[in-house]
Amino acid sequence: MKEQKFEFAYEVYSNISELRKEDADLLVKARAVTKHAYAPYSNFFVGAVAKLNNGEIVSGTNQENASYPVGICAERVLLGNAATIYPGVGIDTMAISYDSKEIKSDHPISPCGMCRQSLLEYETRTKKSIRLILAGQEGEIIIVKTVEFLLPFAFNSSELI
Ligand code: THU
Repeated sequence: MKEQKFEFAYEVYSNISELRKEDADLLVKARAVTKHAYAPYSNFFVGAVAKLNNGEIVSGTNQENASYPVGICAERVLLGNAATIYPGVGIDTMAISYDSKEIKSDHPISPCGMCRQSLLEYETRTKKSIRLILAGQEGEIIIVKTVEFLLPFAFNSSELI
């Protein structure tokens, strides 16, 4: 038997004023785009904005449905938009924020398991790491260098062939 470990480093900032300008600009956009979320059931409005490796900006918001499981998260809406408008282009950085009618938006959220799986495959297919900026409308911000850190032991296409 041998024990193995998985650990990763991430950055924690106390607020947006500590970010470099390019990251702060992306987070401001992610915070603002939460207004376009359609989330009448959860009242939890998520916005994701990414800067692609070609410099273009793409966004996504969560879109819910009366049939609850039909709803889709902001991150996967973004990936669909990016893949359709700029096929083959990697994502440099994605900022994810949220607003809520129920709780204070003053701490980071991180992508759900299904989105982690999708984000990871986006990294693989474009051969580019996606840097994540995670934050609420105010307060602490977390930056993770790659989605790989968020999904150790991931299932991937190499198992299928
Ligand atoms: N949601 C996202 O869009 N992204 C996340 O990272 C977490 C959750 C959405 C799904 C659902 O519409 C609402 O937030 C509450 O779970």
